[in-house]
Amino acid sequence: MPKRATIEKSRSRILAPQEEPAVAVRVAVIGAGYWGPNLIRNFHEHERSRVVTVCDLRPDRLRPLAKRFPGVKLTTKYREVLQDPTIDAVVIATPITTHYTIASQALRAGKHVLVEKPLVSTSREGEALIRLARRHGKILMVGHTFEYNPAVLKVAELLRKGELGKLHYIDAIRVNLGLHQSDGRNVIWDLAPHDLSIILHWVGKVPKRVSAWGRSFVQKGVEDVAFIRLEFPGQILAHVHISWLSPAKIRRMTVVADKKMLIYDDLESVEKIKIADRSAHLDASQEKLRIDYRLGDIVSPRVEVTEPLFQECRHFVDCILEDCIPNTSGEKGVQVVRVLEAADKSIKRGGLSVVV
Ligand SMILES: NC(=O)c1ccc[n+]([C@@H]2O[C@H](COP(=O)([O-])OP(=O)(O)OC[C@H]3O[C@@H](n4cnc5c(N)ncnc54)[C@H](O)[C@@H]3O)[C@@H](O)[C@H]2O)c1
Repeated sequence: MPKRATIEKSRSRILAPQEEPAVAVRVAVIGAGYWGPNLIRNFHEHERSRVVTVCDLRPDRLRPLAKRFPGVKLTTKYREVLQDPTIDAVVIATPITTHYTIASQALRAGKHVLVEKPLVSTSREGEALIRLARRHGKILMVGHTFEYNPAVLKVAELLRKGELGKLHYIDAIRVNLGLHQSDGRNVIWDLAPHDLSIILHWVGKVPKRVSAWGRSFVQKGVEDVAFIRLEFPGQILAHVHISWLSPAKIRRMTVVADKKMLIYDDLESVEKIKIADRSAHLDASQEKLRIDYRLGDIVSPRVEVTEPLFQECRHFVDCILEDCIPNTSGEKGVQVVRVLEAADKSIKRGGLSVVV
């Protein structure tokens, strides 16, 4: 059985700058559109990995990379990547509908695989990938980038240590104007994987039931606004509002527990988390029913400044070199896909509750 990894553990293994890496993982990135170049840069800058090949169907996407990353092989055929025995790991940043085909072929070709979020288009495909990774003894990781975000990890730590008390509910909003995706997938598949991966990580459980409603205002059949409701065991509730049709960009999550409450705003540059020492309790000692509202201080804990994507890439490399199970494993990828499927189904049934 591979060892269990934690981000904290992998952080402690960072090499001093003067040390030469003993082993470098040879990486190929497939998909060099909007997100791919960020992955290329981060693996390129990591002392224990080398980007050896970049692949994209479109030569115009590859051309600018030749200047930026000299020495990196560029190709339009991903099968060339899979046939190259010197490549250890494949990073997939192509549209969602292509993830399963490319990832399954990469695992069969004996490569470790990091797939951008969401892992795949269906949970069946995800389960098949997990089986393939096991059969070939390879790492399968999903790019749930927010699970490498220090602010998200800080909130997880506060919840784990019980500093907020018993969790009641989480409310998430991720809205902006655009960008409608070209692959026909709705806003749920584009934006909600972020909030869902964060919420599942914070709650530490999978929701029992999901209901959602949404509308296609711009492109027929492709919802550009949606509201998802999640019911977790233990009476915990969560709500996610995602939209490509909003005048302002908002990235905010509210966490309410019985001792304290907090707001995590990812667009804040310094005080990303604000913890309010506030709560409401029924005072049963009085003759008349009375609710006590506690209005204590608001504090903002220090949060490490680091690029979450760099932590994600480093964790993937560590898992390969040290045979660890990734924090964002294939299994976690499938959990999120199951919720996305349930939300899609619920929208089609007019908001009826769907068992996950
Ligand atoms: N983790 C994050 O925060 C984050 C952010 C943005 C996007 N993403 C994810 O990254 C992935 C890519 O998104 P994007 O916005 O960069 O999309 P994009 O459309 O901008 O880029 C995708 C690229 O893949 C190429 N491509 C398609 N099929 C290919 C194939 N068979 N072989 C080689 N290249 C192929 C396309 O030519 C295109 O250049 C998606 O899964 C998306 O959800 C993740």
